[in-house]
Amino acid sequence: MATRFSAAVLPLLLGFLLLQGAPSRAADTDTVVIGRPLSGRQRLVSKRGKFALGFFQPAESSQNWYLGIWYNQISKHTTVWVANRDAPVSDPASAQLSISSDGNMVLLHGDRAKSPALWSTGVAGIAPSSSTVGVLLDTGNLVLADASNTSVVLWQSFDHFGDTWLPGGRLGRNKRTGEVTRLFAWKGYDDPAPGVFALELDPNGTSQYLLNWNGSMEYWTSGNWTGDGFTGVPELKAYSSSPMSMYKFGYVDGKDESYFFYDVKDEAVVTRFLVDVTGQIKFLTWVESAGAWILFWTQPKAQCDVYALCGAFAACVENELPSCRCLRGFRERRPLAWLQGNHAEGCVRDTALQQCARGGGVQGATREAKNDDGFYAMPNLRLPSDAQGVVAAASAHDCELACLGDCFCTAYSHNGSCWLWHGGLINLQDTSSTATGGNSGTIMVRLAASELTSPGRTKTVIIALVAVAAAVAAVTVAVLVSAFVLRRRRVKAQRRVVEGSLMALTYRDMQSVTNNFSDKLGGGSFGSVFKGSLPDATATLVAVKKLEGVRQGEKQFRAEVSTIGTIQHVNLIRLLGFCSEGTRRLLVYEHMPNGSLDRHLFGSSSSPGHGVLSWETRYQIALGIARGLDYLHDKCRDCIIHCDIKPENILLDDAFAVKVADFGLAKLMGRDISRVLTTMRGTVGYLAPEWITGTAITAKADVFSYGMLLFEIVSGRRNVEQRPDGTVDFFPSTAASRLLDGDVKSTVDRRLDGHADIGEVERACKVACWCVQDEEGARPSMGTVVQALEGLVDVTMPPVPRMLKVLGDPANYVKFFSGLPST
Ligand SMILES: *[C@@H]1O[C@H](CO)[C@@H](O)[C@H](O)[C@H]1NC(C)=O
Ligand SMILES: *[C@@H]1O[C@H](CO)[C@@H](O)[C@H](O)[C@H]1NC(C)=O
Ligand SMILES: *[C@@H]1O[C@H](CO)[C@@H](O)[C@H](O)[C@H]1NC(C)=O
Ligand SMILES: *[C@@H]1O[C@H](CO)[C@@H](O)[C@H](O)[C@H]1NC(C)=O
Ligand SMILES: *[C@@H]1O[C@H](CO)[C@@H](O)[C@H](O)[C@H]1NC(C)=O
Repeated sequence: MATRFSAAVLPLLLGFLLLQGAPSRAADTDTVVIGRPLSGRQRLVSKRGKFALGFFQPAESSQNWYLGIWYNQISKHTTVWVANRDAPVSDPASAQLSISSDGNMVLLHGDRAKSPALWSTGVAGIAPSSSTVGVLLDTGNLVLADASNTSVVLWQSFDHFGDTWLPGGRLGRNKRTGEVTRLFAWKGYDDPAPGVFALELDPNGTSQYLLNWNGSMEYWTSGNWTGDGFTGVPELKAYSSSPMSMYKFGYVDGKDESYFFYDVKDEAVVTRFLVDVTGQIKFLTWVESAGAWILFWTQPKAQCDVYALCGAFAACVENELPSCRCLRGFRERRPLAWLQGNHAEGCVRDTALQQCARGGGVQGATREAKNDDGFYAMPNLRLPSDAQGVVAAASAHDCELACLGDCFCTAYSHNGSCWLWHGGLINLQDTSSTATGGNSGTIMVRLAASELTSPGRTKTVIIALVAVAAAVAAVTVAVLVSAFVLRRRRVKAQRRVVEGSLMALTYRDMQSVTNNFSDKLGGGSFGSVFKGSLPDATATLVAVKKLEGVRQGEKQFRAEVSTIGTIQHVNLIRLLGFCSEGTRRLLVYEHMPNGSLDRHLFGSSSSPGHGVLSWETRYQIALGIARGLDYLHDKCRDCIIHCDIKPENILLDDAFAVKVADFGLAKLMGRDISRVLTTMRGTVGYLAPEWITGTAITAKADVFSYGMLLFEIVSGRRNVEQRPDGTVDFFPSTAASRLLDGDVKSTVDRRLDGHADIGEVERACKVACWCVQDEEGARPSMGTVVQALEGLVDVTMPPVPRMLKVLGDPANYVKFFSGLPST
């Protein structure tokens, strides 16, 4: 089966063409010598200006200064190495990098005579007679070298990476000393101190890389090196095996050391490999025109596969931002860091547990009579793997007593046998909205009694229910029913709070409408979508979108939402309501029984119930999308650019009529939209070049995406596919050349067996080709597209866009696709 790439064609291509080195500033020096230290705002700049070394602050809000190396020629300050990772200075003016009397490079602060060096290259036994210098090289490597011959390197930063592995560096193991070079993630985005996540070559001597947590728990492995790739990372094979690859990558198993190296063949390519604060390894390339680092590859792919990502007493939630949520009865230990995506410190109790006499036995013999701590049941969680005790307790009640009787016990779980946990609960994952299921269970978390009885919290109701259930089952049913009725009543009451024609709902209502987000329909661009039903007479089905990463404030959000609510067109999805509560933002849409277009276009024949879409239906779908977009662009009060046209955002009702979804969301998400889009998986292949070149975005960007989509509607396949032999096939290039050859018949989905109106196919191909013209001005408006597809205007033969020509050459595919992750 063909593999689909997360088509990063355009940024890759354009980025490649547009990367240009700025002229270097000749005035800067690249060397520290004895008697000429570096201090304050002074910097070292490498010879050709690529890297700079100096004092910097990791965040605007930070009080701390660090000595570090960063890219000197890109518009975003990106640190690649830090000397004093866990010893910041408060004032760079009183700190200096210099050569000490023993020949080492040192970082001093304050009174030099008295205070010890904050950081030193620490080379022992440098001959007193030789003088040394520190030099910053164009590779980003800082070396301590002999002053008379700088090829004699005594120490180099490439042997002491921080979180970033730069091209030209080696990551490996010294066989004589057993020493391994590790990449340690930063502790937080504003704190370069070594965090808990690290990447290293297996210290046991195999050729696999391991990601570990706190020096022990391994949560990801690359698999062993096979000569041209890792067993666990098949997609990286293309890097090393393809002669056209931009990268050289390999493993050297020598006598004294074994290591991996990687390098870029073209110096203009700015690329880095790092272990991120999120515990994932990331391979990024700078695209100057986008002003952003584009993510090529990351592992582990699922954020929640990172061990203990959320620290203690928090659960990881996949595909949500933030990825971590404190358990009930706990709050973030460091709220600010939490917001910045650093969750390692976890959560702390709202209310302390009762003091209990230390030394209490596990068997409950010394159980405190007064201890009235309680337990709160949390279902659908991946449980911590570090249970401290397994007690052969017969019943759940015995298990509870065993935990209560143990001062250190913080939770238990009973599933036949009784599991107890001490201390912070780590590595929990909320599995309620993931398909994994299997490894999850219910954990009973110990909380102070007051936490369990505090009023106004829904979950207390559930606790109460559990208790009742144990006693009288019949009563439970009654309570359940009344709770259900109560919830429905409340939703009804809320629905009277109407904004324009929209329902404003609370988060609790949303939970009730979606049955606590239990039926996930899909993961869209801006958040996951869940099925639900309104508590009205007909139980209207709805789709609830949980937005992620919304930066907008409440007021602006409401304003945007009510604008979207006023947009009504037969080919646009109806917004019915919304929820904006705290940081939570949700949208309620009408539900479309036939789901999104991608399922019908690309759905494998093995998935039952999905017949191949007929040509007539496809043509109507193409027209419907065009009409919907035309309305958005020209016919409503405020012109809306959709920004994210792709098959996943085209929904189909029960009669396969088109409803374009997700319009207006680009604006809702706030300013960072281009960044969001260009780094989003599965979106990039549809993006117009102007997203990358940074020129203003107009409605013509949607026209481009529409053209890309139209090609897929004709062919019934993704535009970018890998052939079984490994080469990549870019369908729009093929279609454009067949169009010129007068052979449009062969572009149509083979599954249709030629049942297609060839006149319409030709018209659709021409329109698609016009839509993806390089220059915005050459692309038609959506109104013109509608007329063309309706046959009201003639369509002339389009010129083949430059981009299609470039990507029509298989050599370029290899160059631009090698190593991209398959999805
Ligand atoms: C500098 O050192 C390198 C490596 O030790 C050596 O090959 C080279 O000949 C030396 N150059 C001079 C000018 O001494
Ligand atoms: C390395 O060796 C130790 C001790 O033999 C073992 O416990 C550990 O699991 C090994 N690690 C890997 C990744 O194989
Ligand atoms: C990390 O490991 C050290 C010992 O190596 C231990 O003292 C510390 O508690 C661990 N950290 C966490 C968060 O468990
Ligand atoms: C890598 O090779 C070693 C022995 O050479 C083996 O023990 C280990 O399981 C292999 N790792 C993987 C992930 O296959
Ligand atoms: C009970 O839970 C433990 C720990 O999570 C797990 O290892 C075990 O397989 C479970 N047993 C059953 C019967 O589900």
